Amino acid sequence: MSNTAAETLPGFLSPEVAADPDAYYRRLRAEDPVHWDDGYQGYLISKHADVGFAYRNPLFSTQNYEVSLQPVFGRSMLQMDGSEHSRKKALVTPYFRGKGLEKWAPVIARNVATILDRSVASASEHITRGFLPGSTVDLLADFGYYLPVYVITDMLGLPHSDYDRFFNWYNRHVAFLGNLARDPEIDESGRQATGELWAYLGPVVEDRRSNLGDDLISGLITAEIDGERLADAEILTHITQLLNAGSETTGKALASMFAYLLRERALFEEVRDDRSQVIPAISETLRISPPSQMNGRKITQDVEIHGVRLPAGTLVMLLMASANRDEDRFADPDTFNYHRTDLAHEKTFSAAGDTFAFGSGRHFCLGAMLAKSELEMASNVLLDRFPDMRLVDGFEPEWSGLKMRSVHSLKVTL
Ligand code: HEM
Repeated sequence: MSNTAAETLPGFLSPEVAADPDAYYRRLRAEDPVHWDDGYQGYLISKHADVGFAYRNPLFSTQNYEVSLQPVFGRSMLQMDGSEHSRKKALVTPYFRGKGLEKWAPVIARNVATILDRSVASASEHITRGFLPGSTVDLLADFGYYLPVYVITDMLGLPHSDYDRFFNWYNRHVAFLGNLARDPEIDESGRQATGELWAYLGPVVEDRRSNLGDDLISGLITAEIDGERLADAEILTHITQLLNAGSETTGKALASMFAYLLRERALFEEVRDDRSQVIPAISETLRISPPSQMNGRKITQDVEIHGVRLPAGTLVMLLMASANRDEDRFADPDTFNYHRTDLAHEKTFSAAGDTFAFGSGRHFCLGAMLAKSELEMASNVLLDRFPDMRLVDGFEPEWSGLKMRSVHSLKVTL
């Protein structure tokens, strides 16, 4: 494990890596593709082939989520494997695929328009700022963060008026998930957020039992596996996971895409004038800047990867952000180029994709197709309504974050 090159690499959780993770990943791939990090107390896996191998190999289990997720979500499908995982995922999959998903298209369209038209009663001040040609907005804070939360709350049958509370709860959950150094204050805040969210959801679920509809909470209440209904705690876990999983990720993907397009205005104009480029632009954004940059795993039996023997019990971090920029897999990987021929854009939203923005293998993202619909629809409406959109004068988009990463704001003149 230890060689000179590996020893000169900075710590994974150091400020130096946080300042430029892509430069660090480039060094990992070149110098020590399966790299032990003392701070993380696990191995960092950085090459495309190795990340794909690990996602698909059941010895790389999701037991790591017992520590990094269960305290805030309860025991979710992400932690399960085998038939238990298949059965629990199958309960909600019909809402996120095919005809079940098509049903939500008008809901997405309505929410895009609602946010842009400011016709909602929201406790938040952001949304009152307005989306009129010529006005200045933050595409992430004023739009990107709202859309996925509005869509999933509609799917669950929860009120938009509680957006600020959901936003607060899921931000504290996201901080818990990204707390690789396990700062006790962040952990505690995440656990308390779950207590508050569940105190809110408990009566909602109770009430829904006698007022069933075609929403997802009603679906979870009535679902049966082998003749058995889900326990209350399982329903709360599913709802918590669904509220969280797609919110920050989808908003961040949208903001990063518009940042890439607007930084080189010719790209924005090309996509605006040729909408067949919308999906390629989204897919290329998810390659070069996946909102969720890494997934942990725990080894259940000794296994070899890239010539390194890892004992049972070892923690590993699958660096999707690194794999997606692996120079052995993608030509000129640090360049945003949606015309590239080494990425099959139509497969990006399926488990057969060339990149790992949505993970891979059995835990491949349940909401990938929903995210695709939201991103495609939102992009098209924004391009229709604001053909002259540009970055605010003097504003340079900056990417930040280690576990979750995107532009932290996107100031545009519409
Ligand atoms: C651009 C948007 C999104 C990104 C980048 C994203 C990313 C991911 C990733 C990387 C995983 C794999 C985690 C792992 O293997 O450890 C995952 C799983 C998951 N995602 Fe997403 N996601 C997005 C949107 C959504 C949406 C909209 C939903 C639903 C509302 C959702 C629900 C889930 C669920 C339930 C899982 C767990 C699946 C399982 O364990 O089998 N995601 N997502």
